[in-house]
Amino acid sequence: MSTDIVQALLHKTKDFSIEETLRFLANEYKDNVVFSTSFGQEDQVITALIAKNDLPITIFTLDTGRLFQETYDVFHKTLRKYKIDIKTYFPEAIAVEELLNHKGPNSFYESVENRKECCFIRKVAPLTKALKGNDIWITGLRAEQSENRNDLDLFEYDEKFDIIKFNPLLKWTLIEVEAYLEKNNVPQNVLHKQGFVSIGCAPCTRAIAEGEDIRAGRWSWESSHKECGLHQK
Ligand code: ADX
Ligand code: SF4
Repeated sequence: MSTDIVQALLHKTKDFSIEETLRFLANEYKDNVVFSTSFGQEDQVITALIAKNDLPITIFTLDTGRLFQETYDVFHKTLRKYKIDIKTYFPEAIAVEELLNHKGPNSFYESVENRKECCFIRKVAPLTKALKGNDIWITGLRAEQSENRNDLDLFEYDEKFDIIKFNPLLKWTLIEVEAYLEKNNVPQNVLHKQGFVSIGCAPCTRAIAEGEDIRAGRWSWESSHKECGLHQK
């Protein structure tokens, strides 16, 4: 059923621009279209498109409590520039308190299991809440970001969260993303200019060196399949 909807959406929007597709989704699914932003470069392009077209799409962010100050700065600038609302989801206070009481504030460095536990509490559980009752989840995933993401489609059914994902910038290159941001004077995280390409929580993200994989700076001490549970790829 959901895979039929995905096919129908791929077909219907195949000649649409991103803006046309966003408008179509907003009309078709009314108040049940949401966009998740981490204030990364891709997300800033999508936020600018939503704001510019005044689309009735709910923008939300997962504030893990461990983000960089520079991320909060771009969050703040974005609100002021576009005069939009960005819904913030926090992790459950009790779950974070229990985690810290039992394992301390830096348990994620000690094992993959501990790291996934922290990601679950701070990201996955709040995301589950944010997506509940919605039909379309817009993300800033790009094919170029990793080998895993290379075979994604513009529309995907996400089994874990039982929702249809729309990845409008899937085929964009980093150069195209940067050019859009510059041309349209979109607020950007200053960390991007310091070698941070993919930015997550502060203790789990480092800058990358030239030639390194885009996601090498995420959980860089781990050699595991590096995903936090928001996306399966
Ligand atoms: S992650 O799975 O490694 O954390 P990544 O940082 O590549 O994801 O971001 C991919 C997309 O996931 C973003 O474009 C955004 O849509 C969503 N996303 C990631 N982190 C957050 C966050 N903290 N809040 C909201 N959305 C997020
Ligand atoms: Fe916790 Fe690090 Fe995951 Fe953030 S990225 S939720 S700090 S383990």
